[in-house]
Amino acid sequence: MPEFIGQEKIVENLKVFIDSARKRNEPLDHVILSGPPGLGKTCLAEVIANEMGVNFRITSGPAIERAGDLAAILTNLENFDVLFIDEIHRLNRSIEEILYPAMEDYKLDIIIGKGPSAKSIRIDIAPFTIIGATTRIGLVASPLRDRFGVNLRLDYYNEENIVKIIERSSRIMDLRTTPEGASLIASRSRGTPRIANRLLRRVRDYALVNRDGVIDRDTAEDALTKLDIDKLGLDIIDKKIISTLVLKFDGGPVGLGTMAASIGEEPDTLEDVYEPYLIQLGFVKRTSKGRIATRRAFKYLGISKEEHQKLF
Ligand SMILES: Nc1ncnc2c1ncn2[C@@H]1O[C@H](COP(=O)(O)OP(=O)(O)OP(=O)(O)O)[C@@H](O)[C@H]1O
Ligand SMILES: [Mg+2]
Repeated sequence: MPEFIGQEKIVENLKVFIDSARKRNEPLDHVILSGPPGLGKTCLAEVIANEMGVNFRITSGPAIERAGDLAAILTNLENFDVLFIDEIHRLNRSIEEILYPAMEDYKLDIIIGKGPSAKSIRIDIAPFTIIGATTRIGLVASPLRDRFGVNLRLDYYNEENIVKIIERSSRIMDLRTTPEGASLIASRSRGTPRIANRLLRRVRDYALVNRDGVIDRDTAEDALTKLDIDKLGLDIIDKKIISTLVLKFDGGPVGLGTMAASIGEEPDTLEDVYEPYLIQLGFVKRTSKGRIATRRAFKYLGISKEEHQKLF
């Protein structure tokens, strides 16, 4: 998969499954991709469809409201097409029921008419592949999850791969980025391609307006400092989460709802978008009693956890 950088283990496995499906002349088994937002789930799904040489159709859990919506999508598929369902944990239960026979036997049950004269007919649909994506694999109902033959979890990228992604995006956007510039942006991208690409565009703006357009180390550093993105890639909201947990709640434990209300974010956003990286950094721990700040989080604020907690 030439266009896709990193996630080597996942890519290696997928290549085998894709080659096997092609040899058998069958659709790829259904795939579910999970992991924090911005890691390239959509991008990977599209690459898979390309490798299979089939159409790539996109929808999302919340977009499929009625049975008819799903029926319209499924009956328009061609052989072996990939149907990408983003945020699949938000599919409604009655829609899931329709999906089961479609996934297992490529059959669709539709109800014709209303009331006592209504009858159900079963029609064939093209053999196809669902690629589901979710930030919350735990919220995918187990009967649905079990129908995916391939279950893959994407993880944060290492800096080397983020550098490659930045260099690739620089080429596509026709930017002059030095290796040191790409490295600096990568080190503040939280291992996340979407963030890397966003920071690259902001540094480009700064380079064009305030410098000679070249994205080098100095320019990148100045631009990101102006955006309040620190050396670890933490932004204002991350810092607010850490300081709230440490200073307002003495390091916790604090429940998710209370934390979210204190910083003015939705609990889901806090849990899906911000916490995973803070946990990965070892700043925050989830416990059964709530979130706690680690010694490292105190240290980040220049405070000793032991000294601080003695005061209370
Ligand atoms: N592993 C990768 N290798 C190369 N390019 C990537 C990779 N991951 C993401 N990109 C690039 O970043 C762009 C935007 O990524 P974005 O985060 O929106 O992806 P995504 O697939 O929607 O993420 P997710 O679905 O996990 O939230 C993609 O269009 C692609 O060009
Ligand atoms: Mg996406």
